[in-house]
Amino acid sequence: MNAPSRTPERLLAAARELLPRAFAPHSEFRVAAVLEDDQGILHPGVNVESATLGLTICAERNAIFGAIARGATRFRRIAIVSERLRPCVPCGACRQVLHERAPDLVVVLETPEGGAESTPLAALLPRPFTGC
Ligand code: THU
Repeated sequence: MNAPSRTPERLLAAARELLPRAFAPHSEFRVAAVLEDDQGILHPGVNVESATLGLTICAERNAIFGAIARGATRFRRIAIVSERLRPCVPCGACRQVLHERAPDLVVVLETPEGGAESTPLAALLPRPFTGC
C-alpha cells in the first residue's frame, strides 16, 4: 500500500479502538494515536502514565518511538483522539519529536462535532528547534 487510501475518518476510528489500552489512572485522560508510515502500516500509541507523573509518555511519542523501533523511517499522517477533548492537539514536546523525524507529517484531529480535520504538523510548530 503506497498511496494514502484510508480516509481521515478511518484513521481516527483506528485510533479510537486503541483508547482502552491507554494507562491513565492519574489524569483519567486517555489518549490514543495511530501513526501511518509510508507503507501504509499503522503504528499504535497510547499514553502511559507513571506514578511519578513526570515520566509519563504521551500517545504520540509512544507511537513514533515504537514505529522507529519496528524499522519504520518515513511517515505520512498521525491521527489523535482522546475520550474527553475534541480536538486533542499534540503537546509541544510531541510536536517537536514528531517534527524531528517527520517534518512533512499531517496531523488528523477530531472536530468538536466528531468529524475529521487535517493540518500540517509544520503549521502547529512554527520555527522548530533543528540544531545539534
Ligand atoms: N497526553 C497525551 O498522551 N497526548 C497529548 O497530546 C496531550 C496529553 C496525555 C499525557 C497525560 O497522560 C494525560 O494526557 C494528561 O495530560
